Amino acid sequence: MHKNGIKIAPSILAADFSRLGEQVAQAERAGADRIHVDVMDGHFVPNISMGAPIVKSLRQVTRLPFETHLMITDPDFFFDEFVEAGCDSFIVHWEGNNNLHRTIQRVKSLGKRVGLAINPATPASVLEEILPDLDLVLVMTVNPGFGHQHFIHSTLPKIQRVRRMIQQVRPDCELELDGGIDPATARLGVAAGADALVAGSSIFGDHDGVDAAMNRLRAATEETVNNEKGILCE
Ligand code: DX5
Ligand code: ZN
Repeated sequence: MHKNGIKIAPSILAADFSRLGEQVAQAERAGADRIHVDVMDGHFVPNISMGAPIVKSLRQVTRLPFETHLMITDPDFFFDEFVEAGCDSFIVHWEGNNNLHRTIQRVKSLGKRVGLAINPATPASVLEEILPDLDLVLVMTVNPGFGHQHFIHSTLPKIQRVRRMIQQVRPDCELELDGGIDPATARLGVAAGADALVAGSSIFGDHDGVDAAMNRLRAATEETVNNEKGILCE
């Protein structure tokens, strides 16, 4: 099931903004696969965060891809700006988008990877028609809007369902989780079928530093994948 190892996308929402460039460089050195950028507008979620100028500045300090998670009411208005700033992929939400197919096609027409996020209360079944068009599904394991929340365990059966749908319809599509990911919840999520994890506070908030935090997270995911292989071989 897990072909190339589990991808890790540190979320800079939890980074120290006074030394953002340094934190991103640390994440890159520690083996991050991409940088997750949480964009919030105070409408779609009850919080505001950052916009394209942050990505433009950070583009100078890393070669990692930027994955932009748009928690905003009108994502279509902002794609061009983020592409110019150097974004590599977009994740838009299923919730509140009356013209989702158009939004997804627009990202594809810009030559960028496209992901669809679903909130904890949104069922996997909404993916049925749109899954063939997606490069990634982001299952929110917290309600979007804030970092440092607790992983919602009732999302685990949905993660398993999404994994099954992906295997049937579009095996190349990634299944990423976002919210409350630490070594313990990473194990649960990967066992349920995730192949990519967003992690903010467990990476940038770790007292031992980004490197140690990334190592712990990676060890947890590798152990889970190896156990799974062991079970399959028995
Ligand atoms: C929540 C964001 C997450 C958040 C994760 O709305 O989409 O990406 O930064 O933060 P942690 O890992 O602290 O839950
Ligand atoms: Zn996010």
